[in-house]
Amino acid sequence: MRELTVELGARRYPIRIGAGLLDDAAGLRALVPGRHALVVSDDNVAPLYLGKVLAALSGKAVGTFVIAPGEQEKTLDRFADALDALSDLGASRDATVLALGGGVVGDLAGFAAACWMRGVRFVQLPTTLLAMVDSSVGGKTAVDLPAGKNLVGAFHQPSAVLADTATLATLPARELRAGLAEVVKYGAIGDGDFFAWLEGHAEALLASEPAAIVEAIFRSCAHKAGVVARDETEQGERALLNFGHTFGHAIEAEQRFGGLIHGEAVAVGMVLAARLSATLGRAPHGDGERLAALLDRLGLPTSLPRGLDAEALLARMRLDKKAVSGQMRLILWRGIGRAEVVAGIDEDAVLRALGG
Ligand code: NAD
Ligand code: GLY
Repeated sequence: MRELTVELGARRYPIRIGAGLLDDAAGLRALVPGRHALVVSDDNVAPLYLGKVLAALSGKAVGTFVIAPGEQEKTLDRFADALDALSDLGASRDATVLALGGGVVGDLAGFAAACWMRGVRFVQLPTTLLAMVDSSVGGKTAVDLPAGKNLVGAFHQPSAVLADTATLATLPARELRAGLAEVVKYGAIGDGDFFAWLEGHAEALLASEPAAIVEAIFRSCAHKAGVVARDETEQGERALLNFGHTFGHAIEAEQRFGGLIHGEAVAVGMVLAARLSATLGRAPHGDGERLAALLDRLGLPTSLPRGLDAEALLARMRLDKKAVSGQMRLILWRGIGRAEVVAGIDEDAVLRALGG
């Protein structure tokens, strides 16, 4: 088992990474000090792993809230259902909400935990690679609106993150690859050595080789924990974690969340952001090609899906949460390992990057 700590001033919480953590009943139980617990999961994950969590919590007052899988469930309606489940449980202020699943379950359960009685304990039990390296760490919780992703939410840090890498054995290969896009992101924005390590371990990662996967999760979480410790509520540096995401979110929304999945859209978005950076003379073209080559080796898309309209994507990008005073802000980069926030970018250049 590997462990690291997210340090937030006087607050701190552990991230534990290793195979079989959900089989450690005592370890799980220790994360739920109060009487009430609500375990949130989805229909794919619950039949596989919910039993282990419930067995560990036996004797406590435990409720379950299981949603249909998929981004389309990350809604205000499902959020209200989660609060109803807490209400039905009679959950008191010492309750714990546990999120067992991917980023959809984590974001939804975390937002319910943030709001129930103005905030109760929250434990992340991520079961996708994307959730292990990104969404379970750092306390961003949210649901989507028809107008866009993650528009309603709160910062609410978990009390612990337990990433049982054995759960990745049942994860569809496409979802594993999507998680690898977020892993590549950390190398691309802040750690050239890690990027080179990923180039050297692409096949091992695709094959889910345990040592490589644990190392990739550990290094990704270490990077994210450092950023979150320095900028918990995204006043500055944390925005860099959104490299590729403004493009990616626009693609997801234009495809009505039925095309590329999140990590795939981020992969395309990173390539477009790199291309835009190179066109603006901010980064070497060769680094963009290296990034696209690594993503391609990891089985990820590197160009826009056919049929998307550049103007429509640009309109979506103007709505992004990073926009300030109506000015679009994008995460661009200087090359491998160095990202930057840039405001006031010429929209024609963005359109050209989108092929418009
Ligand atoms: P997801 O939660 O939809 O999970 C992907 C699919 O894998 C689902 O069908 C799920 O049922 C299935 N699944 C999960 N674990 C499984 C397992 N072990 N075995 C078999 N099937 C399994 O998607 P995701 O990629 O984990 O998360 C994407 C979400 O995360 C998006 O909503 C995104 O906005 C959010 N996100 C949040 C943050 C944050 O900081 N809060 C960061 C990145 C992404
Ligand atoms: N996934 C971006 C962030 O947590 O800030």
